Amino acid sequence: MGKYAKIEAAEIEERYARGWHCLGKVEEFGKDPVRLEYFGTKLVAFRGDEDQLIILDGFCPHMGADLSQGYVEGNSLRCSMHAWRWGQDGVCDDIPYAKKIPPKACIKAWPVLERNGLVLVYHDAEDNDPIQGQEPPVIEEAGADGWSEWAVEIIPIETNCRELVDNMADKAHFGPVHSAEAMRFENTFDGHKVVQYMEGKSPRLAGDSILTTTATYYGPAYMITEMSGEMNGVPVESKLLVSHVPTGTESFDLRFGVMVKLFPGMSKEDSDAMVQGYVQLTQQAFFEDVHFWHTKARVDNPVLCDGDGPIYKLRQWYSQFYVDIADVPSTWDASKTYAVDSVNPIPHQKVAIDDANAAAYAAQQAEAEVDA
Ligand code: FES
Ligand SMILES: [Fe+2]
Repeated sequence: MGKYAKIEAAEIEERYARGWHCLGKVEEFGKDPVRLEYFGTKLVAFRGDEDQLIILDGFCPHMGADLSQGYVEGNSLRCSMHAWRWGQDGVCDDIPYAKKIPPKACIKAWPVLERNGLVLVYHDAEDNDPIQGQEPPVIEEAGADGWSEWAVEIIPIETNCRELVDNMADKAHFGPVHSAEAMRFENTFDGHKVVQYMEGKSPRLAGDSILTTTATYYGPAYMITEMSGEMNGVPVESKLLVSHVPTGTESFDLRFGVMVKLFPGMSKEDSDAMVQGYVQLTQQAFFEDVHFWHTKARVDNPVLCDGDGPIYKLRQWYSQFYVDIADVPSTWDASKTYAVDSVNPIPHQKVAIDDANAAAYAAQQAEAEVDA
């Protein structure tokens, strides 16, 4: 006994992460109420008089009707079953047949943020106000001249969302899964943020040059990657969105977005073709992970080697979003960086490693702040 590794996977408690979650692009939400099925419940979203997006609990607490079947009146939503009306703060503001509105007639109004061309909603099991300073930062390039619009794909995934977040520290999958070589790989944990720095080779996304990516999770569910690569010998700057919102404990909607810096000096036609081509390549690379999420086991006790990334550290960081705010360890207040030093940068690599790059990697490693 004790000879074999035994995979452990504890039952998942029905609690969803505290933080901002992306629900799609702003133009996906109009005046009419729409039903959203997230966080193991239902919500309703509609736009009010000033075009502001309002998100409320999706069921009417009177007798349980689906509020997405209701009618928008100014900044309120009238239930279609007995006509109670709910204001944008969630408080019932009209019952046509009652002398008095019951004090308990109030539903949850979810904090909403429209930023970077995206809609975000804040979830907190404790129902506290959003934590100041933890909003996704403004991306100046979003919607600006010189950059393409977000191309966003939505993919329903049937597994717990920790599987997606694990990717941040999973250096060793780049070779076997993406045919890429991660030569420099570091993670920095800093409060509600975790960053993955990667430099490597990816013939698909960088041709013969070096691919560099800096991917930052701002909270549990919204990640932006700054990526520098190359296509057809032309340098390409892009930004990636990897965001998810849980539908249940074993399922989530993944949104993968790409925006590309336009190519000055190129005809619009050529530039559009480059953008479209690069969007497709990044999608192709990202979707290679999806197969694994759909087929792998969840493992609470992975057997890791010294060339793996700090998966356990990452999971500790991620767990801060699943406990009450008073129980978040102060450990996360100080920024810490972990650099991964593998014997062979990529096991089973499909592309040979260039000696010069390996030497550059070794030099960077020597300089990096290592905190094992
Ligand atoms: S169920 Fe909504 S008003 Fe009765
Ligand atoms: Fe991946």
